[in-house]
Amino acid sequence: MSALFQPLKLKDITLRNRIAVPPMCQYMAHDGLVNDWHLSHLAGLARGGAGLVVVEATAVAPEGRITPHCAGLWTDEQAQAFVPAVKAIKAAGSVPGIQIAHAGRKASANIPWEGDDHIPEGDPRGWPTLAPSAIAFGGNLPKVPKAMSLEDIKRVQQDFVAAAKRALDAGFEWLELHFAHGYLAQSFFSAHSNQRTDAYGGSAANRHRFLLETLAAVREVWPEHLPLTARFGVLEYDGRDEATLADSIELARQFKQGGLDLLSVSVGFTIPETHIPWGPGMLLPIAERVRRESGLPVSSAWNIDTPELTEEAIANGQLDQVLVGRAHLADPHWPYKAAKALGIDKPSWVLPAPYAHWLERYRQG
Ligand SMILES: Cc1cc2nc3c(=O)[nH]c(=O)nc-3n(C[C@H](O)[C@H](O)[C@H](O)COP(=O)(O)O)c2cc1C
Repeated sequence: MSALFQPLKLKDITLRNRIAVPPMCQYMAHDGLVNDWHLSHLAGLARGGAGLVVVEATAVAPEGRITPHCAGLWTDEQAQAFVPAVKAIKAAGSVPGIQIAHAGRKASANIPWEGDDHIPEGDPRGWPTLAPSAIAFGGNLPKVPKAMSLEDIKRVQQDFVAAAKRALDAGFEWLELHFAHGYLAQSFFSAHSNQRTDAYGGSAANRHRFLLETLAAVREVWPEHLPLTARFGVLEYDGRDEATLADSIELARQFKQGGLDLLSVSVGFTIPETHIPWGPGMLLPIAERVRRESGLPVSSAWNIDTPELTEEAIANGQLDQVLVGRAHLADPHWPYKAAKALGIDKPSWVLPAPYAHWLERYRQG
């Protein structure tokens, strides 16, 4: 019996298996509005069999977009634009999730295939960026952000709340707060980017404050019966990993007390100079430790994308859910192929009937 193809129940939501498509920016939106590209992209992924499809980092405010072509949820019109994709994901038997985000000092960048760097100062396509402190990321993202005032902090937290409400209105059933990847929330956590001397910087409790307050504010409006999750970088691979990991696990325990239902364990990406040991399953032992020491269910990604590795990660109790990203771009039917590789000769376990029936009958594909 495959562990990967066991259902996962979180609150009132039951996912058909442990495979999730993680958020992946498409850089195809205009004015934050998603369109036919997102519909076909997301519907195709859902049809392939994943239990959960999480929509890309979706900005809670215009200045929180990574690029001018990122999706947004700062207007009701943007929420309505998601409805066809939400319906299509559900029609394919998957659960629609969305990651809400603020890019902080990494905002105002060119899309990846047009440079992936900050839009130059003076270029009307760009905008001023926000961060805990006026410290640039560096490397390809040299723009110096504005250090946020207390009013800025409150406003952005309310933007997260408003975006969560709109996600619910659009029909999403799974919410992920983007607290990872060097974007705004992660940059409050990290002393690399947070040099504040007020209640939001300095001690661990102060560096955790922005994230915990944002979670608490969203928890108030996101229904108790639906999963509320976060993605968070638990380490940087900067030579200080044991201390950062201990700090992260303490924060994860507080996330749990604050009503978080699952943590997506990732990397901080707060500074450009790191020594990341890229390789199959590099985060698995780390995710397992976060799971064991925090008591939270966890998911994780980064090269956990072969049928064997994903099956073992679930069967060994390292992960509750596995995030298969780029392999899904290569093959939206990755879950079906994985099931076959694991000896599950029953397409209807994974695929909707209009596909499964024929594959079962004629044993093709
Ligand atoms: C095109 C692309 C866009 C991405 N966009 C996001 C995003 O919006 N939010 C996020 O948390 N991670 C994002 N990521 C990271 C993925 O969610 C995932 O962690 C990464 O691809 C590693 O998993 P994999 O090895 O299975 O691809 C993106 C990755 C790719 C390839």
